[in-house]
Amino acid sequence: MIYPIVAYGDPVLKKRAKEIDKNDSSLNLKKLVEDMYETMYYANGVGLAAPQIGLSLRLFVIDADKMDESLTGYKKVFVNPTLLNEEGEKWAFEEGCLSIPTIREEVFRPQRITIHYFDTDWNEFTEIFDGLPARVIQHEYDHIEGILFTDHLSPFKRTLLRNKLNRISKGDVKVDYRMRFPTGRR
Ligand code: NI
Repeated sequence: MIYPIVAYGDPVLKKRAKEIDKNDSSLNLKKLVEDMYETMYYANGVGLAAPQIGLSLRLFVIDADKMDESLTGYKKVFVNPTLLNEEGEKWAFEEGCLSIPTIREEVFRPQRITIHYFDTDWNEFTEIFDGLPARVIQHEYDHIEGILFTDHLSPFKRTLLRNKLNRISKGDVKVDYRMRFPTGRR
């Protein structure tokens, strides 16, 4: 099932998301993850966090393999992740976000991360990621902390983008996937 993607301006994107309860039988985690991948691929994204489909849960999926042909094995799901460490020199990369269509800006982030997370079978991992995969994970992890890539921009840059961001939150933007706008326009 393809979910509409929540647009910039929706309060769910500014909230710190809640941990998933392993024993919550009302949540079909595997089905949800399957739907999130379907939604992400439909919109040509390389990452999607649960708040972006309106669910304030600590869950995101990535497929960094789609970014560069040298990358394989970075189709991954992160359940209840905790970012343990960020290190290395900060580097700039032009980021975009399915919740903020048409806007792309350079964001500086540290090179390497250590993250603890579970998969959908509740196997536990602590892993180090570098470069582009780390970048995608950092962006998605921000989503479950209620942070958007535009929050990393300078106040000057944000001022320049203000009108464009307001238009996005009103649904005044052309997108080729389904979105849910704070004003209710689809
Ligand atoms: Ni995003």
